[in-house]
Amino acid sequence: MGSLSGRRIVLGVTGSIAAYKSALVVRGLVKAGAEVRVVMTPGAKTFITPLTLGTLSGNPVHSALTEDVEAGTWTDHVELGLWGDVVLVAPATAHTLAGMVEGRGDNLLLTVLLSAKCPVVVAPAMDRDMFLHAATTENLEKLAARGVHIIDPDTGELASGLTGKGRMAEPERIRTELTTWFKSQAPLIGYRALITSGPTQEPLDAVRYLGNRSSGRQGAAIALELAKRGMQVDYICGPSDIPTDHPGVHRVDVTTALEMKAAAEAALGAATPDVIIGAAAVADVRPRMTIDGKASKGELPDTIELVDNPDILAHLNAAAPDACYKVGFALAHGDGRAAALRKLSAKGCDLVVLNSITDKGAGFGHTTNRVDFVHGPDRIDSFELKTKEAVAVDLADEVQQQLLERPPLLTPLDD
Ligand SMILES: Cc1cc2nc3c(=O)[nH]c(=O)nc-3n(C[C@H](O)[C@H](O)[C@H](O)COP(=O)(O)O)c2cc1C
Repeated sequence: MGSLSGRRIVLGVTGSIAAYKSALVVRGLVKAGAEVRVVMTPGAKTFITPLTLGTLSGNPVHSALTEDVEAGTWTDHVELGLWGDVVLVAPATAHTLAGMVEGRGDNLLLTVLLSAKCPVVVAPAMDRDMFLHAATTENLEKLAARGVHIIDPDTGELASGLTGKGRMAEPERIRTELTTWFKSQAPLIGYRALITSGPTQEPLDAVRYLGNRSSGRQGAAIALELAKRGMQVDYICGPSDIPTDHPGVHRVDVTTALEMKAAAEAALGAATPDVIIGAAAVADVRPRMTIDGKASKGELPDTIELVDNPDILAHLNAAAPDACYKVGFALAHGDGRAAALRKLSAKGCDLVVLNSITDKGAGFGHTTNRVDFVHGPDRIDSFELKTKEAVAVDLADEVQQQLLERPPLLTPLDD
């Protein structure tokens, strides 16, 4: 797995003589595991062909704002801007830098840059005097002030024959700076999480089931927070309509506890997680018999025989390596600290996140939660009532602290 694995990069290529090096930029990014979509300015196409960059990226190259004027089709610059984790402009001409500063939209790349919600990185490339010009200096300062990351050009011999600063950074430096920058934005890149979330539904017949009121909101918030920090998240979720749209979240929807166990074990077998978080409210029991079709009122049994469901978290924890950090959730009625401490050892957890249905605004069905992090008898951290997203941040901070003490278990960074 590469250092940019799973990252989506929109690569803008502009009309600099250094555009020929963008082929090597694409190759390096793809080799590091990134998915690359290239957007060329019209000027860039006089220096390197879309065919070269399209072949190396494995994706069609976009250049024109409209595709087929007769047919009324156009390139969706908004979609491209939203697709990327980053827009990298390499090489970035003085002209494109000026267009970015002014917010111009007179070619596809500039409109993508205006639409992008993700961070932007530029690798300027130009002749010495163009680079030293006050306009360029001011433009780079303004872009840096807006949060654009600038990969400083190299000093050396330039295409004009002059010597000085302005040569685009070598493709290898662009890749390593981008990787380092991604890591600073997303410190848990290369690490993997396995999360179970939501309720399970245990069918009585085709329409009736035993279930619980878990919404899956807390698990979803945790999945999104960890993905935002760069983790690849296997998210196994019982019936829940809480969205988890993020390229780092691989969601598998399940219904029953047995399905959840099978999906979680499959994820564990496919890729060793660095952290397991059992946030699902798995039904403890299921009906021994399921009636085919919809039972009429008269066909419903007077008593329902129940059998135990497997303890998914205990199974996962036992199967995972010792170095994997294991987190369970416990929902208590009243003070559940003693129960949480029992759960900690019974399920092989390193941490139990305890919440109580008797705390106002906490637990199932709320957008807020109040939790205690139970690490052991000597360490229980209590938090105030906060949104489930804020609880996810607290938990992600704890996970991050644990994980950054060691390298990823399955997916070592390759540089
Ligand atoms: C041979 C040649 C090389 C050029 N190299 C550069 C360059 O390295 N950097 C730059 O800013 N402009 C360079 N230019 C000028 C740009 O191509 C020109 O400003 C163009 O409008 C840039 O458009 P774009 O930014 O939309 O691609 C070069 C022009 C020519 C003819």
